[in-house]
Amino acid sequence: MKIIASQKQGEVKIILLKDRVIPKDLSKDEKKELEFYGFEGEGSCLVGQSKKFFIGLEKYDYEFSNALSDAIANAICSLKKMKIKSISIEVEKEEEIKKICLGILLGAYSYEEFKSKKNEITLKEVYLNSNKLDEKILQEQILESEILATSINHTRDLVNTPPQQATPEYIAKYAENLAKSIGFECQIYNEEFLKKEKMEAFLAVARASVHKPYLVHLSYKPKDTKGQKLPKFVFVGKGLTYDSGGLSLKPGDYMTTMKADKSGACAVIGILEAVAKFGIKAEVHGILGLAENMIGGNAYKPDDILRARNQKTIEVRNTDAEGRLVLADCLSFASDLKPDFLIDLATLTGACVVGLGDYTSGIMGYDKKLQEEFAKVAFRVGELTGILPFNPYLRKLLKSEVADLCNIPSSRYGSAITAGMFLGEFVEETLKDKWLHLDIAGPAYVEKAWGVNPFGASGIGVRACVEFIKSKVK
Ligand code: BES
Ligand code: ZN
Ligand code: ZN
Repeated sequence: MKIIASQKQGEVKIILLKDRVIPKDLSKDEKKELEFYGFEGEGSCLVGQSKKFFIGLEKYDYEFSNALSDAIANAICSLKKMKIKSISIEVEKEEEIKKICLGILLGAYSYEEFKSKKNEITLKEVYLNSNKLDEKILQEQILESEILATSINHTRDLVNTPPQQATPEYIAKYAENLAKSIGFECQIYNEEFLKKEKMEAFLAVARASVHKPYLVHLSYKPKDTKGQKLPKFVFVGKGLTYDSGGLSLKPGDYMTTMKADKSGACAVIGILEAVAKFGIKAEVHGILGLAENMIGGNAYKPDDILRARNQKTIEVRNTDAEGRLVLADCLSFASDLKPDFLIDLATLTGACVVGLGDYTSGIMGYDKKLQEEFAKVAFRVGELTGILPFNPYLRKLLKSEVADLCNIPSSRYGSAITAGMFLGEFVEETLKDKWLHLDIAGPAYVEKAWGVNPFGASGIGVRACVEFIKSKVK
């Protein structure tokens, strides 16, 4: 779908009803039709005769809410089923442009790769009408939205790709091809390297799978920096291309959707895609921990004691708590890059979903200010987060009688936090206050449409992280 700054009228015109107020200057017939449908400003309604699509917005507060994007996304879902080629929409304020564009571009997404009969969408052009706004600003913001939405939609595609296809090797190659085509660095490390680095925790998780593990290091630096000191960001992504639970096997019901256990890694790829296309003035790295958690004679077991890259020993008591083992070694590796900001994204715990619900990511870490700052930025771009606070009593639940740490806590209460505190043990001491853990288990993959998101992968984390980088860059 193409968004064009133009005064052209589309075949259908979108009318936004702020505070759900129906305009007074409608024709008699239009009023009659709205009345016929019982439309009083809630939801949306198409007036067939004049081809106007009315969308009611309850609380028109673009600065602090995502209502505008959500409403537009919802409308696009209906409009793309119609046999029309174009629509138009009036933009009044600069702040609305991106919200509208992202609503359109993210709302129009659907994953149909494996459908024999694909939906034929005739709607190809969206005209943004404005007689108040500068055309240059309109065009700039359309372009920015397109870059961001494309990165998010690519992340969604990758997460939605089924696990027999999206193996660790597939994701690594995908990242390599993307890096080549946009122009940033990609280093793929294989099992031999993991052994050399003594990443015993990462290796143990991957061992029973026929698909070999990979650690991928993506890095981006802008071209002409003139010796400028750039802030350095490192993003670490959990990339479990499938999580069967391992020998602590998941029940069947809980296993479906576990192709989405690679969402953290896929989001990191999306972040790098956007950052590189924007040419952001920052050094940005992505570390992907790619593996598959399976069963077999060779599988790692509850009772195993593993030595992680940073030399800490871990007693395995549950092989389904595998993400933290992969991330332990990845965070230790990422620490060596000495970042100014270290952020991991992971579908880490079911407990985070229980606590915050499907739509909200958990934010954890040691620096309260940094967490609050991130939460604010995320909310501004329409991502919901909740801060889950660490405390020393919960930390004690990770104690092991036979190793330095246990991979599961001794109580199931507060499991999202104890998982976060487990990760904290693998972040180098001097970086603890620069680290954030984002548990995206809830919003990464939801089996119904919500907000600007379709059924399935949402690409959560990309928008918030890209905006966070932008907020730190001059
Ligand atoms: N990948 C899961 C977490 C998850 C659950 C993601 C639901 C998305 C939706 C993770 O590896 C896991 O299995 N965690 C366990 C940890 C437990 C064994 C301590 C969990 O949350 O139950
Ligand atoms: Zn698991
Ligand atoms: Zn997992």
